[in-house]
Formats: sequence, structure tokens, C-alpha cells
Amino acid sequence: MSHVGSDVGVRGSKEQEETRVHGEKPAPAEAWVGDHLPSHTRCFAKLTRPLLRLKEYNQTDIFLEDDINISEKIGKIGCSGISEQDKDLEKVESLKLSEEIQASGDVADTGEDFVSPWEVHSSSEAGIDYDKLIKRFGSSKIDDELTERMEKLTGKPVHHLLRRRKFFSQRDMKMILDMYEKQKPFYLYTGRGPSSEAMHLGHLIPFIFTKWLQETFDVPLVIQLTDDEKFLWKDLTIEEARRLAIENAKDIIACGFDVEKTFIFNDFDHISKSPAFYRNMVQVQKLVTYNQVKGIFGFGDSDCIGKISFPSIQASPSFSSSFPEIFNGRKDIPCLIPCAIDQDPYFRMTRDVAPRMGHIKPALIHSTFIPSLTGAQSKMSASDSNSSIYLTDTDKQIKTKINKYAFSGGGATVEEHKEKGGNCDVDVSYQYLTFLMEDDDKLEEIRKTYTSGELLTGFLKKELIDIVQKIVGEHRERRKTVTDEVVAQYMTPRKLKFDYPSPPVQTPGKKKKK
Ligand code: TRP
Repeated sequence: MSHVGSDVGVRGSKEQEETRVHGEKPAPAEAWVGDHLPSHTRCFAKLTRPLLRLKEYNQTDIFLEDDINISEKIGKIGCSGISEQDKDLEKVESLKLSEEIQASGDVADTGEDFVSPWEVHSSSEAGIDYDKLIKRFGSSKIDDELTERMEKLTGKPVHHLLRRRKFFSQRDMKMILDMYEKQKPFYLYTGRGPSSEAMHLGHLIPFIFTKWLQETFDVPLVIQLTDDEKFLWKDLTIEEARRLAIENAKDIIACGFDVEKTFIFNDFDHISKSPAFYRNMVQVQKLVTYNQVKGIFGFGDSDCIGKISFPSIQASPSFSSSFPEIFNGRKDIPCLIPCAIDQDPYFRMTRDVAPRMGHIKPALIHSTFIPSLTGAQSKMSASDSNSSIYLTDTDKQIKTKINKYAFSGGGATVEEHKEKGGNCDVDVSYQYLTFLMEDDDKLEEIRKTYTSGELLTGFLKKELIDIVQKIVGEHRERRKTVTDEVVAQYMTPRKLKFDYPSPPVQTPGKKKKK
């Protein structure tokens, strides 16, 4: 149900490519990424125009993943039009990002893997190649240095989802840790598109991790329920989408977020009451062109204009000024977004526009996907009941689904399994344990004995069934306590437990001249 695949090619079509190569000006359909920049910067852009096409990149091209000494490269390219090199670096940075957005085709199709906000699949049994995705998206790998710094600063071990690199990629986490070290504030933002009544286990993962972040760093959290997104993309009425948002809010609340530190909102009801939010939305809308969203999300000519402007709605919670009730009008509180990697295109766009709006770019921490029960080629999906474990499943359903559908990396017969051993890389039950089992030693023991053939598939599945029944069972109990009144508390715009001194008053006439 994706609109992505077919339209994405438009941008790099032969016709446009040729216009770009032979014509004086870029093809009219191609908004020139440097258009918003002053002319001396554009000179740089013109000079390096070929770098728009990924294939041709060489030493003088500037890539996001380079994180290079841009100045060195500028030196090599030798654009005489750039006189005040340092001053321009910032603009080049922003150009670089725009190019990244245009060049890499944010919908990552690496041949084997396809990842977009609407579609995720891989042709490999072991699932998505996440290292390739990092390269493709231009984010940074989470390394030991980062997790060790986190442990040092917080004085506690990092969450097992981070330890096992289920959260594997990031942007600007260093900035967030710097803020924390200096005891400066930041906040968390995450969300969910309420497409179904029942959330599944995969949906829970980012929220479990977000809760850990909130507790560890003691920061406010905003959660966006994009009922408008689901109205636009699915066959749902507005009323139905709103209802699903509230149902999902109950599941999210049941994860145990602190009501004094958490604001949950659904777009349909919140945005119409929040001028600050709407202003940021429209600011974003003014700064992103149709060509850019086409490039980033693969929208086509027959997509409704609601979809085309939707990214501005998902972008806006990244700015603290969208929530004056919480942040007291401050626009300088940085944001950290925990999300699955498929949401990154939204935030690459957000990071691109943020400096031009006078905002801080949001930082990100990305998770992998929990695989479908039936195999790692696709992620768990709410619309396929055999591939998913729902939070509403009974203990019996959980047991049956895992025993019947969980793709096994074990031998076909007991004899074969004992002889050749099991393959943990493709075994979905084992993969689930890496998401859900906290005990590192026990997990390692299971890996060893399963790989050697000593532990049989049935026993491995039994471990998983026990854990899932416990998690889902506890969730079920907590959800029962979430009444409409409780939901209303979380969803009322209000000041949270945190204080923010007022921003300095801007006196008219003191505005800097350009
Ligand atoms: N688009 C997301 C979805 O379909 C929902 C969402 C909105 C979100 N804002 C977010 C997810 C921020 C992660 C972070 O599920």
C-alpha cells in the first residue's frame, strides 16, 4: 500500500537528468537546493552541482556522512566566490543537508531492502541491513563511546535495547548529552499513527525505551497521535481515527509514563486549539517545496494535498515553541526524538528547516524494527494477525501464534537440529528474545546452546512464550486502570513538573540589521 516505489524514480528520470546536464539552468521542475541561499553561496552550489547525482561523487563532494572538514573541501574546490569562508560554513552546512535530502532519495531502496514511512521489507532472511541504512540515511552509528558516556553521566547501565543496539543509529546525541552534562534542559518527543484499535508488541518497543529515557534523564515528554495522518492515508472517517487515537493513548499510558511529565495529544483535537503549534506548522510549510517532499517521501501527482503538507504536522512538535504551556514560550529547548528508523525522513526534513526558522535541530535516536513473526523480511504489521502479537491477545493466543507461526532457524528434525544446530540470525523467537529478555547472561546461554543444537526449538519458543505472556499480561492489567478521566489528564495542555524561566523580551527596534 505504498505510493513510494513508483514515484520516486521521477526525480531521477532520464529526462530531468539530461536537462540538468545540458541546460544552463536546472530543469524547471527541479527546485534548486541553493535557491534560498544568498548569491555568493549559490556560486558554491553551482560549482558542485554534479554532486546532486550520487553516482558521480568524488573527493570534492560533500556528504552528510562525511561529517568532514568542509572547509578543506571548499579549499580544494576553490570557489573564488566564497570569500568569508567561515561565515559561509553554516550555509554550506544547510545546503549540504538539503542535498542529502535530495540526493539520497530518503526512501531507502538499497536493492535488497526498502524502507519508507509506509513500507518496510527486505529480501534477506536476516532482515534489513541496518549498517547500509545508516550510510544511506546519513545518520551515525551508536558506538561504545556514546553508550559509555551515557552510563558515566547517568550513573546507571544503559537499557538493554540500547546495549544490544536495537536502538542503533542517532543524530546529534552528543549535543543532548552535552546539555545533560551542563544541566541544561531538553525534552523528548515521540508519536504513533493510530491505524488500528489493537497495538502490537512492535509498537510497544519505542515506548518502553522512551519511558526509560524519561526516567533516566528526568525530562518532559510529548507524544503525538497522528489521527489526521491515518485519516489521510487510510480508509477511515475522522471520527474513527480520533477514536483510535484515544484507544491507543490508553495503551501508551499503560506503559507507565509519569502524568506530571507527559503530554499526549491527538492532532485533530489539539492543533485547532494551539495557535503556537499552527504557526510553526505553516512556517515549515513555507520552507519546504513540493519538489523536496516529492524527493523525500516519494509523493506523486495524484497524492492529495493533505499528504503533501502532512510532514509539517509531524515536524512541529520538534520545536519547544509549539508547546507554550509546557515551555513557557521558550523556543530554545532542544528536542530528542526516539523513533523507528522509518520515521527518519520526516525529521531529516525537520532538521533541514530548523535553522532557517531560528530553531534548534531535533536530535534523534533510531530503532530497528521488531520482525514479523513469520520472518525477518518484513516488520510486524498490525494488519496481518498471524504476523503480530497484539496487546489484546490472550495467553492462549500468544502460545498458539508463537508455536505455529514464529519462523524457526532450527533444524527440520530433532536429529538434524542436534547435528547442525540452530541459526539465531534468522530465528524469529530468538530475535524477539533479544528485544524482550533483560538478562544478558541468560540470553547468551540460550544463543550458545541453540546454535550448538543442544537447545531445541520448542524450548526456545517456550522461553519466549513465558516472557510475552508476562509482558502482555501485565500490560492488560495496567490498561484496565486507565479510565477516560486518566486519559483526559494526560491529554490536557498544561504546565508539567518542569520550570522554564521566561524568554528575554524582544524590544522592537533592537532587531539586528541584515
Ligand atoms: N508517523 C508516525 C506513525 O505512523 C507517528 C508519529 C508522529 C511519530 N510523530 C512521531 C513516530 C514522532 C515517532 C516519532 O506511526
